[in-house]
Amino acid sequence: MSSYEARFKVWRGDVKGGDLEDFKVEVNDGEVILDIIHRIQATQASDLAVRWNCKAGKCGSCSAEVNGRPRLMCMTRMSVFTREETITVTPLRAFPVVRDLVTDVGFNYQKAREIPSFVPPEGVAAGEYRMMQEDVDRSQEFRKCIECFLCQDTCHVVRDHEENKTAFAGPRFLMRVAELDMHPLDAAADSGLDRKKTAQDEHGLGYCNITKCCSEVCPEGIHITDNALIPLKERAVDRKYDPLVWLGSKIGRR
Ligand code: SF4
Ligand code: F3S
Ligand code: FES
Repeated sequence: MSSYEARFKVWRGDVKGGDLEDFKVEVNDGEVILDIIHRIQATQASDLAVRWNCKAGKCGSCSAEVNGRPRLMCMTRMSVFTREETITVTPLRAFPVVRDLVTDVGFNYQKAREIPSFVPPEGVAAGEYRMMQEDVDRSQEFRKCIECFLCQDTCHVVRDHEENKTAFAGPRFLMRVAELDMHPLDAAADSGLDRKKTAQDEHGLGYCNITKCCSEVCPEGIHITDNALIPLKERAVDRKYDPLVWLGSKIGRR
């Protein structure tokens, strides 16, 4: 096994402010960024705050920014970087810092709560739901989400504009709206809930200008933009220009 000494800069601080702190630390073959952060914690900075859980890319806890790119620390191999470069690890920029590499991701839970859940179809008992396989496959892609919030962190709509947070749910939760809107058994419309309309009016679908940065950072490889956001935009536009919907809105306004 070969090992070498790497140079790290790790952000230390809290909500009041902070700075990058330099570390020189041993790296061994096959290690990932989280291993190195743990070694720094064990040998040089025992109070370094870092959130993690599974170390297997499945819990979504260890999200941070490595050289400015949102990544899971447990799935980012040290071999991605040259031995000479200094590796900078900072907390997710779009959310408030709690301490060091730990951020408050409560924004995302708030957005999750704002989306009405699946409405079961009437008269169909649990266990009797039937769907086409292609509908199952479509939902299953979205349900691979591990809620790491890297997509939420990288989307410029909130990353660079804190003021947009109230109006914009972000890619992860617009994907959830898309999933429910495409679900053939969701009976929300029967109770008057138009998911396409709420995507536009309440969850800020129009703020997304399809930059696809969310899809690029997703560790699960979910095609957030191509398979969820663009189809949702198309469906919302279809609804808006549907002559029957237009006529209904005119009659409704009288
Ligand atoms: Fe993370 Fe991908 Fe889910 Fe976004 S969609 S929260 S990047 S797993
Ligand atoms: Fe943001 Fe993804 Fe749209 S990064 S702008 S939600 S395509
Ligand atoms: Fe669970 Fe990294 S520790 S995803």
